[in-house]
Amino acid sequence: KNIVVLISGSGSNLQAIFEAQIPNAKVVAVFSNKKEAYGLERAKQFGAAAHFLDPKSFESREAFDDELMKQIDEYQPDIIVLAGYMRILSKAFVLHYLGKMVNIHPSLLPKYPGLHTHQRAIDASDKEHGTSVHFVTEELDGGPVVLQAKVPVFEDDNADILASRVLTQEHGIYPIVVKWLADERLTMKNRKAYLDGLEL
Ligand code: GRF
Repeated sequence: KNIVVLISGSGSNLQAIFEAQIPNAKVVAVFSNKKEAYGLERAKQFGAAAHFLDPKSFESREAFDDELMKQIDEYQPDIIVLAGYMRILSKAFVLHYLGKMVNIHPSLLPKYPGLHTHQRAIDASDKEHGTSVHFVTEELDGGPVVLQAKVPVFEDDNADILASRVLTQEHGIYPIVVKWLADERLTMKNRKAYLDGLEL
């Protein structure tokens, strides 16, 4: 299976996917919308093609996403993995990869879609927080959840400490989900996720 990963930053989840050495699955290319994203270096280290596509060179979100789609499809991807990709996707892009694109979001969805999830969990005095892998649909961070990991929130936590606790869990769960996809055990139908035919 060919995997294409989209990033905007550090790419530690990308690295976790490389290191998991998933049988029958290969990260063939990594795309970033940020030139300085360290994840592009990680991609090269692991022998994947690393591309930067500059949103500033495009007139609209749709034009950018259309070009990104074209470039991604040259790799004939089976799976699209969003790993810290910090851009809203156009509807056409989402529909084009529907059922084969997943995202990891740093909250226990449906709690806290969007940004600043760690601070929001602290501000709400939540006792637990975590991360969710979900299929990508038109609704921002709203597609069906596939797998979550929880972490405790301690009283003296700040957003950075909590974020790193969550990130460690992300590195554990994301490769599991990618493996399920590669093994064709995980599917989405009518906006619901199924593992081995059972609804999640
Ligand atoms: C992760 O916390 C992920 O949940 C969020 O962005 C962060 C990406 O980290 N969407 P990295 O680039 O994989 O290190």
